[in-house]
Amino acid sequence: MGLDDVKTIGVVGAGTMGSGIAQVVAAAGFNVVLRDVSEAALDRGFRIIERSLGKLVKKGKFTEETSKGVLGRIRKTLNLQDMREADLVIEAAFERMEVKKELFGELDKVCRPEVTLASNTSSLSITEIASSTSRPDKVVGMHFFNPVPVLTLVEIVQGLTTSEETMELAYQVARKLGKSPIKTKDQPGFIVNRILVPYMNEAAFAYMEGVGSAEEIDQAMKWGANMPIGPLALFDLVGIDVALDVLEVLYREFGDPKFRPAPILRQMVRAGYLGRKTGKGFFDYGEKV
Ligand code: 3HC
Repeated sequence: MGLDDVKTIGVVGAGTMGSGIAQVVAAAGFNVVLRDVSEAALDRGFRIIERSLGKLVKKGKFTEETSKGVLGRIRKTLNLQDMREADLVIEAAFERMEVKKELFGELDKVCRPEVTLASNTSSLSITEIASSTSRPDKVVGMHFFNPVPVLTLVEIVQGLTTSEETMELAYQVARKLGKSPIKTKDQPGFIVNRILVPYMNEAAFAYMEGVGSAEEIDQAMKWGANMPIGPLALFDLVGIDVALDVLEVLYREFGDPKFRPAPILRQMVRAGYLGRKTGKGFFDYGEKV
């Protein structure tokens, strides 16, 4: 199956990442089938897309008409069976291996045998996810970065069983989305999260130890290291639960104490302080954003 055969892309999960992926996929001219498990989740995903398109229209990057066209190409569904229409599927569901394996097992039954199944997982093993299907050569990582409409990288992750042909198709699809793909191997955290998330974790330790306030730590990294936003604001953007999951995987898989999560992260997740999506993380947002 080549790039020209891909007309409809299924996106499983309409959360922060799934909705961003659906948006860029539809903006590139593909039809999208966007699936989540509740109407509320789909509606929230659509609101994220509308807000993002609104920003692009305001900046003059999109016309109102293009924006309407993008929304018109996204079909919402609660039914996983609708993924049978897809020529490629990108999964962006909950970051739990059991969830992914069950989902990929079902997708394997629903989708045509030649269809590639991609996961947007931020650190889980593509090889293990692939093992739950009868097409492990057609399972690949397509890891996008938040905010998906703005950041250009997509890591194309090769599991032990992923074929070169599948890697190339995922690479070409990412290019067609206007992204800058980089191929990488299936190692915990791939390239970016292996380097970025421990940096953020160190900032959480510094905060816990009172090295500076959240504002001071972030401002220091912006002024002193030219970061676009500070590491604690980045936790809030990514989701403290999501970043903690990445750290837990790095810690478990490498068995190296340098990846141990700062205890405050677990406490914040227990308290429901997940960052922007709950209105409070290291910073207060007043509302869910
Ligand atoms: N949709 C569309 N446009 C958006 C947008 C969105 N969701 N969010 C921001 N923008 C646009 C703004 O409209 C603005 O456009 P302009 O340059 O034409 O004026 C531009 O992006 C910059 O936005 P702002 O002025 O509001 O704010 P910033 O200058 O701080 O930029 C940012 C926002 C691009 C998000 C920047 O802060 C940034 O790059 N932050 C770091 C993000 C990062 O590191 N992400 C990776 C996280 S790790 C990850 O995702 C992996 C996962 O597995 C954990």
